[in-house]
Formats: sequence, structure tokens, C-alpha cells
Amino acid sequence: MSKKKYTVCKVDEVRPGQQKIVQLDKFSVGVFNIGGEYHALLNVCPHRGAALCEGPVCGTTQPTDQREFIYCQENALVRCAWHGWEFDIKSGEFLVDPSIKAKTFPVSVEADEVFVHI
Ligand code: FES
Repeated sequence: MSKKKYTVCKVDEVRPGQQKIVQLDKFSVGVFNIGGEYHALLNVCPHRGAALCEGPVCGTTQPTDQREFIYCQENALVRCAWHGWEFDIKSGEFLVDPSIKAKTFPVSVEADEVFVHI
């Protein structure tokens, strides 16, 4: 089955660390800019169905082998507003259990426009 291509924004409309939520046919989709790369997630949290992409874009803390925690993955995660689950925006994976994934969509950029393929 071929995918349909939707224009979602101009490249300068969603700055690094920001997101935009768009309605594409029956799907609400979050478009994110991570350091100049665009990614898209279905705006539905796999936990209990909240509007995942309306949560804050953030990083997280992770342990090091030096018995300390560091802040990392800044602007590469979205945190669901309902219960705080954090998802990797690129892969859709829930950080605690990567077998749980938010739905991702391919994104392309042509000239100054960003497209999502559904
Ligand atoms: S609905 Fe998203 S973390 Fe619970």
C-alpha cells in the first residue's frame, strides 16, 4: 500500500526543540524538529491514549558508570502530560520499555517544506 504525502509546514515554522500538531485526514500528528531533523509521531500515547505530542519536548536523566546521573537526549524526547511516560521522538520507543512504541511516520523535506507520509 502506498503512502500519501502531506505538506505539514515550512522548515522555519518548527524550530529545533519545538513541535507542531497537525490533522492529516483521521490522524492527529506531531511534527518535531530535533537539531534540524524532522520527525513525526501519532498524537496518541500508547499508555492510555492521551494527546502525546502536546506534552513537553525534553531530555532525561540517566545513570553513568560513575554512580551519578547526567541529563541527556535534550529535545529528543516527548513526555506525555498524563502520566509522564517519556518517548524517543525518532524511534517512538518508551524509554523504560522499548517494546512499547508510539507510532512514527516517515518525514521528508523538499526545498523549504516538510512532508509527512502516512
Ligand atoms: S496516557 Fe500517556 S503516559 Fe499515560
